[in-house]
Amino acid sequence: MEVIILSDPEAVSRVAARIVAKCIREKPHAVLGLATGSTPVGLYRELVRLHRQDGLDFSRVTTFNLDEYVGLPPDHPQSYHSFMRSQLFEHINLRPDRAHVPDGLAQDIPQFCADYEAAIADAGGIDLQVLGIGSDGHIGFNEPSSSLASRTRIKTLTPQTLRDNARFFDDPSEQPHHVITMGIGSIMDSRQVLLLAFGEGKADAVAGAVEGPVGAMMPASALQFHPRAHILIDEPASTKLTRAAYYRWVYEQKPAWQRH
Ligand code: PGA
Repeated sequence: MEVIILSDPEAVSRVAARIVAKCIREKPHAVLGLATGSTPVGLYRELVRLHRQDGLDFSRVTTFNLDEYVGLPPDHPQSYHSFMRSQLFEHINLRPDRAHVPDGLAQDIPQFCADYEAAIADAGGIDLQVLGIGSDGHIGFNEPSSSLASRTRIKTLTPQTLRDNARFFDDPSEQPHHVITMGIGSIMDSRQVLLLAFGEGKADAVAGAVEGPVGAMMPASALQFHPRAHILIDEPASTKLTRAAYYRWVYEQKPAWQRH
């Protein structure tokens, strides 16, 4: 794992955007896995800037989002379809038919999930997966006790995650308890992973993911088995890491050719 600790979310978002841009420049038909939530907002803003100012070209890129709420139509303001349109898709030259977000209204959810996995495989697999992390260590919406080999499927959110995300819903009765999410096994298949985390509230989850034992009670810890995982965090999210000084040292020592 590469752990990069930077002063603030803006600095992290800039480095994350450079990693995504490098992936697209090296492989113009790259397949990106995308995340929602407050964490990747700065990354998406920076990608939009790179598109407008540096001509970063998304015309051959394909994207697959991690998750969506069951029962929310794509035009619901809290749906992840809406989030992705307003934060990224409407501002770049990504073809709408290449932007995939799970269908929260799927009638046959198991069939939909199998088709979503097949579509990712048909696209050639995910080159780079962007991830946030829940305060309980979830990635995607793979809550604690999720199988570390899980694939895309329906999940029930924990009360903690419902509380963390309640701020987005004016009417609590509208907040779905179920989601469709890519599994941990699906995430692990991606060729490169970029996990972002900001703030003190994520410090325990980050420490568990990076340094804790690998286990289903800390889903992000599965990334310790990923050969190319970048963990990009701000100072407050790093405070529970026992080896933070070493990770900083490694980053400072990086050979020029390896810098982001
Ligand atoms: P957040 O959510 O970015 O809104 O903190 C992260 C997550 O739940 O994965």
